[in-house]
Amino acid sequence: MANFPEILTTESSGGLRGEIEIPSDKSISHRSLIIGALTHGRLKINNFSFGADCRSTLKIMEQLGVKVEFIDEKTLILDATGGFKAPAEPLDCGNSGTTMRLMAGVLAGQDFDSTLVGDESLSKRPMKRVIEPLELMGARIESNEGRAPLKIHGQSLKAIDYSSRIASAQVKSCVLLAGLGAQGETIFSEPVLSRDHTERMLEYFGAEIEYVHGKIKIDPQSASDTHGSNILKARDLTIAGDISSAAFFLVAGAIVPNSDFVIRNVGLNPTRTGILDVLHTMGADFEILSARPVSNEPVGDIRIRYSPNLCATEILGDIIPRLIDEIPAIAVLASQAQGKTIIKDAQDLRNKESDRINAVTKELQKLGVKITEMPDGFEIEGKAAITPNGELLETYHDHRLAMSWFLAGLISEKPFKINGFQWAATSFPEFLDLFYSLA
Ligand code: S3P
Repeated sequence: MANFPEILTTESSGGLRGEIEIPSDKSISHRSLIIGALTHGRLKINNFSFGADCRSTLKIMEQLGVKVEFIDEKTLILDATGGFKAPAEPLDCGNSGTTMRLMAGVLAGQDFDSTLVGDESLSKRPMKRVIEPLELMGARIESNEGRAPLKIHGQSLKAIDYSSRIASAQVKSCVLLAGLGAQGETIFSEPVLSRDHTERMLEYFGAEIEYVHGKIKIDPQSASDTHGSNILKARDLTIAGDISSAAFFLVAGAIVPNSDFVIRNVGLNPTRTGILDVLHTMGADFEILSARPVSNEPVGDIRIRYSPNLCATEILGDIIPRLIDEIPAIAVLASQAQGKTIIKDAQDLRNKESDRINAVTKELQKLGVKITEMPDGFEIEGKAAITPNGELLETYHDHRLAMSWFLAGLISEKPFKINGFQWAATSFPEFLDLFYSLA
């Protein structure tokens, strides 16, 4: 983990200026290892995320026999054989739900058994959402009442036509990755399109995916050679910057007076850019300076300026999966917007690294924010001065809460303390260095 203090005392900012490059996207980094390992050949992964979550996936790949060569702090090379060997030990997903849910899909169809374990927070998160479709495909999985540890008895799988009740990229990716090793054509649909990095990356490596009436179809035969083995082709890959990391800077730029800076290399995949739509609707002053494709993902630079006249908005429905991880930061943004911001349809926030609906409400109230908890979101009355009441802000083992409280600290009337700030390194070990470089 980066050297972050366990208890961080916040400091207010007089303005953020300059230019930063946003580090690698976590979702794409996980997939670059997992899907990269399913290809055949040698591939270089540029701009990999070495946060704790992606390190968990990396370690699991090594336990499964994938050869990884480290070139520098952002680059690695995989020697992919399209398959895995049985692990000697349980596979530790740490705090990472993406690792556990995607790996469940990959491991269910192997010809060996494996066990996925996680930390305290991950062990409380629901895994039934992936166990259910995998069992329909013939998988055998033992769990702790739908939670980790997951003991996976590898089986040959059959394809399914699955309609997910929730819009979850982790569920979708789990089913598609299991489908890649199953007999027949797997079809997946979801109520609202969730992030599509898995589909894009499979296509980048040569898989054929069909999109018919909102359904995704993948037939392993179309991606197989005559021996029935997967022929996803190894190709070097460059990972876009993480818009979910950029979101903290976008919010900071909009709410900290005198700010004006450029964020380079931000992934602009439309299934992730809900935060930009919200900033636009609220009247934030930002522009996209250049947009370009990088390994089948759109990327661009964003200039953001202090925006004194932010107005409240309603965030609900189809946009939710496009900004689900940004909601804690958006709650801080909403506290600085005139009027009542309503966030609805985000009940799955209760199943993230913490119950983010409850945690955001409880902790922002300690800062004097007028926020009311709803079953599927919150209502936030702005514009509120940040007035800490002297209590410690808690992070609940949740990186995005740690970083969101830091944002509130930038505009707080007086410093406050964040307990468990080190969790920020789960996804963003460069967070403090980048903020201090703009100060
Ligand atoms: C992710 C999908 C989202 C997101 C998570 C990363 C992914 O979770 O919240 O941080 O990489 O697929 P859900 O699929 O549970 O919505």
